[in-house]
Amino acid sequence: MLVFATSDKGGTGRSVTSCNVAYRLSLRGIEVAYVDFDFGSPTAGALFEIGHAERGTNEGHGLHSYLLGETGEPRRLIIGRETDRAQLRRAEPGAGQLVLLPGDVGGAEFGCDEAMVERAAKLLATLLSEFAVVIVDLSAGRSVALEIALRATASTVLAHRVHRWLVFHRWTRQHVLAAGGLVHGSHGLVHAGTLWDHDDGALLASTRCVRTAVAASDWTRTGDPPQAAWLNEQSKALRELAIAHGIGAAMVLGQTPIEPMLQWREQLILDADVNARLANPATVEAYTDLARRLTDSATWDIE
Ligand SMILES: Nc1ncnc2c1ncn2[C@@H]1O[C@H](COP(=O)(O)OP(=O)(O)OP(=O)(O)O)[C@@H](O)[C@H]1O
Ligand SMILES: [Mg+2]
Repeated sequence: MLVFATSDKGGTGRSVTSCNVAYRLSLRGIEVAYVDFDFGSPTAGALFEIGHAERGTNEGHGLHSYLLGETGEPRRLIIGRETDRAQLRRAEPGAGQLVLLPGDVGGAEFGCDEAMVERAAKLLATLLSEFAVVIVDLSAGRSVALEIALRATASTVLAHRVHRWLVFHRWTRQHVLAAGGLVHGSHGLVHAGTLWDHDDGALLASTRCVRTAVAASDWTRTGDPPQAAWLNEQSKALRELAIAHGIGAAMVLGQTPIEPMLQWREQLILDADVNARLANPATVEAYTDLARRLTDSATWDIE
């Protein structure tokens, strides 16, 4: 399964959530590739705490070089081997391999041509023959990365492969409006997809939103009645706004709670972090749930 992680805005939690979902999938014995298509800011190595690839790989074999036709084989980093985090280096029994394909250090956004789309399609098809789940973290917004992903999945090489589209957004007014626009708006996912020969109904059925860092809804805990009433109103207004913009409950894969650890540091949350009471169990539950829903065919209307 191909999973494209998108967002309209930057800083939505797209990468941190995606890498934690990738990790949770691998713990279930699933082989997972994490592909950094955030061309303007290829920092996925930092999420996995790979010191020598924090800002991409330095050897001219990153994804930028590959897509530009400068190398035939993009670099793969086995997280369990390359990470600086000792706990992550310890093999979990029964876990599947988790591999990162980083961009190049200093790599930037580029234009998109047919050769690049063909290379992307070939790479993703190859990865699908080795990994059960391939997660592609795309640059924010209506980016070249999104165009490459849409064109590659419409190409004959990938047309019959399962692809899912996740739209990450914060649970705020601006983010709901933006995410609704990315799904349904002009030059958004569905509109741009139809320009590249996707079926709009199928594409929409393959799309779900992920609400990140959502504040606790148990407002009754706040000691201040006016504040509790205001928060309740805002919560209701956000739900109505999401429905009005076509990203109501039926379009939601799941949500993550505000996690203090992630407010300070982008990283994988390990069970060890929860056991040491450094991270909240609800955060790991949310990632586990997202991983489960993502791979559960009942989540998707199309099968
Ligand atoms: N559940 C959460 N609770 C608190 N903070 C979070 C949560 N999820 C993500 N964050 C934090 O939000 C910030 C943005 O997250 P992240 O970098 O994943 O977003 P992004 O959408 O990939 O951004 P960019 O567009 O820059 O690539 C990070 O500091 C991250 O640790
Ligand atoms: Mg990111």
